[in-house]
Amino acid sequence: MSLQSSDPALITTTHLVKSEDLNHHQTLYAGRCVEWCVQMAYIAAENCFNEARPVVFMSIRSLSMRTPARLGEILRFEGRVDYIGESTIGIKVDAWKLQPKDDPRPVATGTFLFCTVDEQGRAVAHGLPALAGASSASQRRWKQDDLAVGRSPA
Ligand SMILES: CC(C)(COP(=O)(O)OP(=O)(O)OC[C@H]1O[C@@H](n2cnc3c(N)ncnc32)[C@H](O)[C@@H]1OP(=O)(O)O)[C@@H](O)C(=O)NCCC(=O)NCCS
Repeated sequence: MSLQSSDPALITTTHLVKSEDLNHHQTLYAGRCVEWCVQMAYIAAENCFNEARPVVFMSIRSLSMRTPARLGEILRFEGRVDYIGESTIGIKVDAWKLQPKDDPRPVATGTFLFCTVDEQGRAVAHGLPALAGASSASQRRWKQDDLAVGRSPA
């Protein structure tokens, strides 16, 4: 379930940590946490549009697991737009334990890049307005190429 908060730039979802979400340390499995973060980020990217648009995942720019989460704990994932390019949308996700409410430590934080595409799956401008108040350093970080890899010549 995804919920719109009173801050229109913020969208949230909650997950209950169940036994199938645990690793052999009996804490939240990182792979499951990544899945929940990417899903939250995708929903936050789609939330930019009044009508559904084809938006595809491009990359995980960063992800940190900060605090272990355990069986029965409820996690709140918050997604907000952190970068707007021509065809790309960068989303920041923070995950917190629902309780205790005053715990200042996040469970996980991450940044995720998405791209709007046409019917052929090619990048296409989304037409979203520039992000108000974004620092140029933060915007530069999003533009840095994290995918500078290619096939070696045969
Ligand atoms: C997303 C995709 C269409 C982009 O195509 P592309 O040819 O690599 O991208 P383009 O060169 O046209 O650039 C598109 C945008 O991505 C940005 N971009 C491209 N490579 C990047 C990189 N390595 N790091 C950061 N941004 C990058 C460009 O700067 C451009 O941004 P802007 O339009 O906001 O200025 C293509 O990579 C793709 O189809 N990927 C697979 C997606 C997928 O299968 N996802 C899983 C299912 S949802």
